[in-house]
Amino acid sequence: MDRSNGYEKISSFFMRGRGQAVSGIGSSSVRAWAKTLAAGSDVLDLGCGTGIPITKILIEEGLAVHGIDASPSLARTFHENFPNMPIACEPAEESSFFDRKFDHIIAWGLIFLLPEAAQIRVIEKAANALNKSGKFIFTSPAMAISWSDAMTDLPSRSLGAEKYREVISASGLFLIEEFEDEGENHYYNCFKI
Ligand SMILES: C[S@@+](CC[C@H](N)C(=O)[O-])C[C@H]1O[C@@H](n2cnc3c(N)ncnc32)[C@H](O)[C@@H]1O
Repeated sequence: MDRSNGYEKISSFFMRGRGQAVSGIGSSSVRAWAKTLAAGSDVLDLGCGTGIPITKILIEEGLAVHGIDASPSLARTFHENFPNMPIACEPAEESSFFDRKFDHIIAWGLIFLLPEAAQIRVIEKAANALNKSGKFIFTSPAMAISWSDAMTDLPSRSLGAEKYREVISASGLFLIEEFEDEGENHYYNCFKI
């Protein structure tokens, strides 16, 4: 059964595009976020794909990364790209990596792929897995909308900024800021209280 929300099926297409775009959309926003983190921090990359561009940027900024991705082909490519960074091929909703703590967590392009209850569960799990003052940044549109994912054609849905703010606060996180990148991806940048 596919737990990658259709990404395993289109993995070779993904790997030829986003999966090797070292300066892909969001790179400068993620780099700016990474520069606010202490060098040597442990960062969990949820829905890491091939690790390019997100994990690569984190490593370049002196961070140690663990990846989670539910697509076996993308997780394998992540391992080939970054053999020293642990990778778990499993759904974020059930990841064993949530049994331990991380300094910071990022989820770029993942949250809105999940059903509503799973989105809330992953935000709560990320909050629980963070060390105090740890940052969690994720992307999802500010508007509450549903659409078909451009790559997989499967349904995606945003709970909308108002609901995300509620979930963030109820999970023990403080919302530092929201902003958009050059691709109109909406970011929620939070820290653990
Ligand atoms: C839009 S891509 C983003 C990949 C990467 N973060 C990037 O910026 O290039 C979404 C990724 O989430 C992964 N994914 C989808 N559903 C998942 C789940 N339930 N748990 C973990 N990863 C998942 C997909 O396999 C894919 O690699």
